[in-house]
Amino acid sequence: MGVKMLSILQKFDRVFRVKINTILLTDLERIWLEKLLKKSMAQIGLGEIELNEDCYKTFIAGINQLNLNYPLDYLVGNVNFLGKNFLINEHTLIPREETEYFVKYLKEKGYCDGELLVDVGAGSGVIGISMSHDFKRVICTDISKEAISVCKQNTRLNGINNLTCVVANCLDNKLLQDSINEANDWSLVANLPYLPIREKKEAYINKVSYEPDIALYSGKDGLDIFRVLVLQISQLKLPSVLMFELDPNNINKAYKMISDLGYNIRIINDIYGRCRFVIGQLKNAGV
Ligand SMILES: C[S@@+](CC[C@H](N)C(=O)[O-])C[C@H]1O[C@@H](n2cnc3c(N)ncnc32)[C@H](O)[C@@H]1O
Repeated sequence: MGVKMLSILQKFDRVFRVKINTILLTDLERIWLEKLLKKSMAQIGLGEIELNEDCYKTFIAGINQLNLNYPLDYLVGNVNFLGKNFLINEHTLIPREETEYFVKYLKEKGYCDGELLVDVGAGSGVIGISMSHDFKRVICTDISKEAISVCKQNTRLNGINNLTCVVANCLDNKLLQDSINEANDWSLVANLPYLPIREKKEAYINKVSYEPDIALYSGKDGLDIFRVLVLQISQLKLPSVLMFELDPNNINKAYKMISDLGYNIRIINDIYGRCRFVIGQLKNAGV
């Protein structure tokens, strides 16, 4: 079974009385046990607990997956992002604390306000859903129909009723473009894949090997999809505000591309002091 910290004390019909040597649990295994049992370690006490057969099997399978560096967040299947609960699975990126920091920043500094917000590369929907209270309407787009399915579930889970989900290559969708044309003004936020493809060989070391490639990599320099998006934006009515999370190594290139569209740019550092976020305000929008 490969789980050394657990011994079966008694076996009833479909129920196991087990002793878990909690001292031997790693931090992740401890959290896994707490989440699975919906109890704190204080409540679990000395580790003598009863697990029904399904729970027992889930616990063992989870421990074995954690040993293979499988992310705890996928195992648990949901994350907290700015106080809201979000379902996630292997089709969605595990939301990053940098992104949470960025959304908090945008809300605090008053960038979240307006008629329409389009969240491009929405994944589980953490950004669009967290900003949905500040806009009249939000559209989340993602090229992955599986991710959009999770985004829809999260929209329902969080009781959001002004948000639409669309499968699209960035902004390439007729209904989406019609909505943009009908709005008096619109804003765009995007956390698209931004890693250069060469980083794929370091995925295991960087602990991202279980996350979807489509959520991580974007061509040779990490900017392929960003370039597609910028081109699409240039062909539409320009958004008043652009908000991007990017690879710090590409901030200067992104700066140039966005300012060429006619935006005043602000660069924001992430929690580790790296230039990661770019905010553009349309020059003639008078913002
Ligand atoms: C880095 S993840 C970000 C997910 C989410 N916004 C977040 O911050 O957690 C990038 C997302 O962009 C999506 N994506 C990749 N290529 C895309 C494209 N061409 N158009 C739209 N979405 C794309 C991926 O499926 C993935 O969900």
